[in-house]
Amino acid sequence: MKYEHEIEKRKTFAIISHPDAGKTTLTEKFLLFGGAIQTAGAVKSNKIKKHAASDFMEIERQRGISVATSVMSFEYKDKLINLLDTPGHKDFAEDTYRTLTAVDSVVLVIDCVKGVEEQTERLMEVCRMRNTPVIIFINKMDRDGQNPFDLLEEVEKKLNIKTQPLSWPINMGREFKGVYNIHNKSLLTFGANQKATDNDLVKLPDLSTNEIVELVGERDANQLREDMELINGVYENFPVEDYLEGHLAPVFFGSAVNNFGIKDLLDTFIQIAPAPRPRMTDTREVKANEDKFTGFVFKIHANIDPKHRDRVAFLRICSGKFERNTFYTHVRNEKKVRFSNPYTFLAREKNIVDDAFPGDVVGLFDTGNFKIGDTLTEGEMMTYTGIPSFSPELFKELVNNDPMKTKQLEKGIRQLTDEGVAQLFTQHGGNRKIIGCVGDLQFEVIQYRLLQEYSAACSFRTLPYFKACWIKGDPTKVADFMRYKQANIVEDKEGNFVYLAESEWYLNTEKNNNPDIKFYITSDFKHEL
Ligand code: G4P
Repeated sequence: MKYEHEIEKRKTFAIISHPDAGKTTLTEKFLLFGGAIQTAGAVKSNKIKKHAASDFMEIERQRGISVATSVMSFEYKDKLINLLDTPGHKDFAEDTYRTLTAVDSVVLVIDCVKGVEEQTERLMEVCRMRNTPVIIFINKMDRDGQNPFDLLEEVEKKLNIKTQPLSWPINMGREFKGVYNIHNKSLLTFGANQKATDNDLVKLPDLSTNEIVELVGERDANQLREDMELINGVYENFPVEDYLEGHLAPVFFGSAVNNFGIKDLLDTFIQIAPAPRPRMTDTREVKANEDKFTGFVFKIHANIDPKHRDRVAFLRICSGKFERNTFYTHVRNEKKVRFSNPYTFLAREKNIVDDAFPGDVVGLFDTGNFKIGDTLTEGEMMTYTGIPSFSPELFKELVNNDPMKTKQLEKGIRQLTDEGVAQLFTQHGGNRKIIGCVGDLQFEVIQYRLLQEYSAACSFRTLPYFKACWIKGDPTKVADFMRYKQANIVEDKEGNFVYLAESEWYLNTEKNNNPDIKFYITSDFKHEL
């Protein structure tokens, strides 16, 4: 049980949101509190600007910037916080899903005007699959948004998680007066752009006194008293265990751009968010405090700029101590590897590190040896699980435009899909190659990279599918189904059978007609449709 102190110190998490809800702004405020940056505006939004939506080179350039901010580590009140960035652009949603496999908890930002949006729902689905603890921050309270009770109800319904407010807003929009911290029974009054300190909090243990009226006026004081009565009637003391098990999300209200309510959120986060948690491998569960080093690659970033064609594999450390220049076992390749220049990102500086502990993420320069999900150990042959592929949303057939370069094309598409740029499926019993992506941009990236890096020219033929489902079940029934649905059956890179459905209706019909076959939405056969 070495390194206990280092492990307890670490909180590894991600901030997630539908684009525009305020993820970048909140990230920046956290970094300001952590002293990792000195001025507002220092974090470049990795949100791809709307006008550049069709220019993938520009997007790649911006992604290049975002590599530097892929992991932001900072210290706050004796804790070491590793904040893993996720791409803002929806076409890179798979990157986000994978990053979520490397964190121990998340903060989910919701815009109080828009409520729960499409991408919020998807991200939460991924969190729920792994029971990741979630704290919700309802942002933009300086705008006229929805009633907070309605918002909580919407969150519970659409995100399928119980909520418990730990702070409560006093009015909103132009009339926004502040937030009342339910747990500490203290009030923070709203002022734009304040970097709140503990001194700004007014202790208000008893809302029936006149003090609250003096601070927010009679009408809002009465409303708060009424709201609190309701809340106290519904909620008991906050059950941290339920949060840690992923069943209950504490909720905070505030305004990221005004730096309001952020300190409350951060202070609670460091108190309740889990330190590095145990993780499953294909042979056993590994605890963070085991002596021997283990870790897995959850993201590979390849720079497509020909001038800087570097590739970085991001390794999450799960147990033990990772050390520079030490040989480790690359389990899939059964090879020993060592790294002379692993780096981390303390205070947003890229630093070569000598060692790293569970919860940390190190960047490893890679020449093509890594695949998403690869595990490194001190010799034990096991592989971390829970980094599945999710169904793509767009499907196109890969068309070879230069038959003389078939080999290059095949090699290129294998390597690019190993990096996680897209998913590759092969027609069952045939050779047609089908690429599945979340967004159209990836097709452009693939076409460009195949040509630049492998001299292979390709084009794409659009296919009418909307979802991929991994199938398993009674072998004769599966064989019958595959014969009957031959045109829709493909194999993933591991040789698993996948059914490509044209529509929700087809999918439901086939599911109902084939009760002996299970349809899974992830490649690890863990999550059924
Ligand atoms: P994202 O990373 O989730 O995509 O969102 P981001 O932080 O970039 O925020 C999206 C927009 O919402 C930004 O405005 C940002 O200033 C604004 N915003 C963030 N927090 C609040 C808040 O508490 N209140 C209000 N009223 N607005 C907020 P923008 O005009 O798109 O960009 P910018 O020019 O201000 O940077």
